[in-house]
Amino acid sequence: MSALTVQSTLKLPSGAEIPRIGFGAYLANEEAVYNALNAGYRMIDTAEYYRNEAECGRAIARWLAETGNKREDVFYFTKVWHDHHGYSATAQAIDNSLRRAKLDYIDLYLIHSPLSSRDLRLETWRAMQDAGKAGKIKSIGVSNYGIHHLQELFDWPQLEIQPSVNQLEVYPWLPRTDIVSFCHEHGIVVEAYSPLTRGERFKEHILIRWSLQEGLVPIPKSNDPERIRENLDVFGFSISNDDMAKLDIKRYSPIVWDPTTSGL
Ligand SMILES: NC(=O)c1ccc[n+]([C@@H]2O[C@H](COP(=O)([O-])OP(=O)(O)OC[C@H]3O[C@@H](n4cnc5c(N)ncnc54)[C@H](OP(=O)(O)O)[C@@H]3O)[C@@H](O)[C@H]2O)c1
Repeated sequence: MSALTVQSTLKLPSGAEIPRIGFGAYLANEEAVYNALNAGYRMIDTAEYYRNEAECGRAIARWLAETGNKREDVFYFTKVWHDHHGYSATAQAIDNSLRRAKLDYIDLYLIHSPLSSRDLRLETWRAMQDAGKAGKIKSIGVSNYGIHHLQELFDWPQLEIQPSVNQLEVYPWLPRTDIVSFCHEHGIVVEAYSPLTRGERFKEHILIRWSLQEGLVPIPKSNDPERIRENLDVFGFSISNDDMAKLDIKRYSPIVWDPTTSGL
């Protein structure tokens, strides 16, 4: 674990490599995304719901132009909101996301939440599979999926492309060991959103390091240049087994929302 660095990656079921830490862009502005890339983050998480895909795209373009890095050096992902579930609405949402960010492809595209219906979720997945085959998306995944939502996908006879990622609200006060274990058993990488509990609990470095040691991919957000850098300073230490055991809190305290329990 101590060999983890900011350059470390995990292999997704799609074959793509995902960085071990990303920058969460909810409520982040263009300057913050640009500062994050300069600080060393190589993964940007946004969503159509965040209404800042254009700002993220501009920050990436500016950083690439100034540093000479290549598009493939940045892992960009966005998500479809449940209003746009269904085949044609999702196909359109993918094209709109590409147009807004002015990118030729999206590295990872997620279903933001399962809050629609079985048929709409599966039609959404079919549109994502087709966009994958068309080269618009490199990897596809979900967010806020409970085990029953994942099982629905695995049981679907038309499943051609496996989910690469499930992005979940996870931290020591919401460890979600049932969903995380199911994902890991099926090769799905779990990204931890709101890994800093939105500042409700402190010791930010510890929280980010906890995510890494749990095998998760944390995506902390900050608009502050200093905090953006600080949140990457998690590779020079590790949490001992004793302290990890103390953080094994087994609580259920979501602070954002919880669509994983939705039975729709
Ligand atoms: N899939 C989903 O449904 C979903 C839901 C929620 C979030 N997400 C994703 O996860 C990302 C991260 O989650 P989040 O934004 O909800 O919460 P978070 O990353 O847990 O916390 C962000 C908050 O903590 C503050 N902060 C950041 N670094 C800090 C530090 N070192 N010291 C003190 N305060 C600090 C930030 O303020 P400043 O900006 O002022 O630093 C901001 O208010 C989002 O941006 C989004 O990409 C996904």
